[in-house]
Amino acid sequence: MATIIKHPGVEDYFVERTLDEITAAPNGLIPDYEANRLILLKNYRVDVDFDAFAQMSQNTAGADKNLRKTLKKLSANHIMAATPESKDPIHRAIIDVLCKKDPALFQRVQTGMLSAHKEVMRLFKSCFPQYEYFRVIPSVRLTQTLFENLHWDNHQIDDDFQQVRIFVNLDHRPRIWNVSHNFVSYAREVYKDHHLEQFAGRDPNEMNDYICGKILGGTSGACTDTLPRHVVAFDPGEVWFGESRMISHQIYYGERAMVYMFFVKPEGMLDRGRRFNAQVESLHKSFAREPALA
Ligand SMILES: [Fe+2]
Repeated sequence: MATIIKHPGVEDYFVERTLDEITAAPNGLIPDYEANRLILLKNYRVDVDFDAFAQMSQNTAGADKNLRKTLKKLSANHIMAATPESKDPIHRAIIDVLCKKDPALFQRVQTGMLSAHKEVMRLFKSCFPQYEYFRVIPSVRLTQTLFENLHWDNHQIDDDFQQVRIFVNLDHRPRIWNVSHNFVSYAREVYKDHHLEQFAGRDPNEMNDYICGKILGGTSGACTDTLPRHVVAFDPGEVWFGESRMISHQIYYGERAMVYMFFVKPEGMLDRGRRFNAQVESLHKSFAREPALA
């Protein structure tokens, strides 16, 4: 189980659930997820060939600039579809750069990826029985991440959808995150001082940009913000879930992970008002109503 040190100055939104508990509940994990909890799958590990992933190179200097970017946030589909004969430049970079032209290593990585992918897709179905996704981004992070800035995710799209994120630690070392306030709770706190009403009716990502950049300092100010945070070390093979546009997070250290993003139709939600766009909109409405109440 993850090691968690909770900060009393941040809401305690952690829950731990076993897969049996989740599948026995009529709505699975949906109530916890729509409550914007950070959910840890208790007593559970994805069966991963950690050694195969650990043998992959993290040095992508052999690939050109665009390819390096692609390799940093790589789609699992590329690993699963690659063949030793493929001429596709991404497939070649996976085999020649990440797997160091070692066909046996590539074979192990591909087999491991296929099985972990199947498992995450099965977990989505079991944990979110009423949710229907219309798109999935099966991302794998195979290079080291250190000292990110604390942020809420910004997908640069204002499409109105429910996001489900499933994370798996693919490394034999812990993956360390710091997590802090909920986006709407924090925005409510600083709303008046920062005149956040300027973002009412606009793409919620603009308010995200302002808060993450102007208030917290952005990537150039990584680790210099003063928000309190919980500290979490996720175990090897551990699985966790959370709406990363609502739970602020900072990868402090991590080597390899799966970060699967499911785009879910709002119609399948238990409470449509709990999707990201709707929560931001109701925050603005609550402040717009305030003068009339005063
Ligand atoms: Fe993030």
